[in-house]
Amino acid sequence: MNTSEIPALTDAELKLLQTLVYQECGMHFDERRTAFLQDRLQRRLKECQLDSFYSYYRLLISQPGKQELSRLLENLTVNETSFFRNKAQLELFQREVMEDILRRKQEQRDYSLRIWSAGCSTGQEPYTLAMLVADALAYYYLRNPLPFESPVPKPLVPAPWRVEILASDINYSVLRAAQDASYGEHQMAGVDYGYRLRYFDKVGDRYAVKKNVKELVHCDFHNLKTEYLPQRNDIIFCRNVMMYFDEAEQKRLVEKFYRCLNSQGYLFVGHAESLLGLTEKFQMVHSNSGTAYQRVEVKM
Ligand SMILES: C[S@@+](CC[C@H](N)C(=O)[O-])C[C@H]1O[C@@H](n2cnc3c(N)ncnc32)[C@H](O)[C@@H]1O
Repeated sequence: MNTSEIPALTDAELKLLQTLVYQECGMHFDERRTAFLQDRLQRRLKECQLDSFYSYYRLLISQPGKQELSRLLENLTVNETSFFRNKAQLELFQREVMEDILRRKQEQRDYSLRIWSAGCSTGQEPYTLAMLVADALAYYYLRNPLPFESPVPKPLVPAPWRVEILASDINYSVLRAAQDASYGEHQMAGVDYGYRLRYFDKVGDRYAVKKNVKELVHCDFHNLKTEYLPQRNDIIFCRNVMMYFDEAEQKRLVEKFYRCLNSQGYLFVGHAESLLGLTEKFQMVHSNSGTAYQRVEVKM
C-alpha cells in the first residue's frame, strides 16, 4: 500500500483510538499531539495492511491483536532520556534524601534500600541512580565507619546493605536496551571522566555499565495505568512520564505512588512536572533548585 492509499482517519475513528490508548496506558493525546498520534496510527495501519482505521481498532481490541496493541503503544511513547538528567535534582537526591534515608534506616537497623525508576526508558536514569547510590553509601561510611574491616576490594554496596533498583517501562524495546546497558558516545554526554572510569567498561566504541552496577538494577515491564504496582519503595523516580497523562490520570498515579512508598518515602517527578493541585499527601522538599516530594504521614 503506498501513502496515497492510506484511508482517511475520521473523527469518530480518531476518538475511538484516542480513548483506547488512554484506557490502556494513560497517555492523553490532546489537540497539540493529535498530528503525532495520526502519523503513528497511519504507520501501523500500513504495516498491518488493513484498509480502514476501524478495522485496525477492531484488531487492537481483539485477543489476537494484543501484540499489535503493545507495538502501537511502543510507537506512541516518547523515550527521550539521558544520564545525570536534571543535576540539581540529583544533587538533592544524593546529598539530602539519601542521607536522610540512610540515617533513618540505620537507626531502625533496616539495611534494605529500594528505589524504583518508573518509566526508565533505555536505562540512563536507573544506572545514574545506581552510581549515585554507590557514591552516597561510600561517603556515608567515610564519615560513619563500620565497626568491622571491609573486605578488599571494597564491594560497591557495603554489607549489610542491600540495594535494589527497579527499572520499569511499558515499552519492551527500551527495556531491552536498559537490560543491555551498553551506550554509544552520543549517549554519554552527561557522564564525566570520573564516572566513565569507575562505572563503565569500554567495549569497542561503546560504554558498557560495569557488572557490579548492573547487578543493582532489575528491569521489568510495568504499565503505570494498572492498579498493581511495585510496593515498599523508599524512593520513586517518575520523571517526564506524567506530562503525557491528563490531570485525572496524574491524580490516580500520584495516589498509587503514595501507596507504593514506604513511610516518609520520596517521589521525584520531572522538571516540567509538579504535584501542585494533584494531592495533599506529599510535601515539597526543595534545595538549590532541585525539587522532590516526601510522603506526609497521617498522625493517628
Ligand atoms: C520521556 S521518557 C522518560 C525517561 C526517564 N524517566 C527520564 O526522565 O529521563 C518516558 C518513558 O515513560 C514510559 N511510559 C509512558 N507511559 C507509560 C506507562 N503507562 N507505564 C509505564 N511507562 C510508561 C515511556 O515508554 C518512556 O520510556
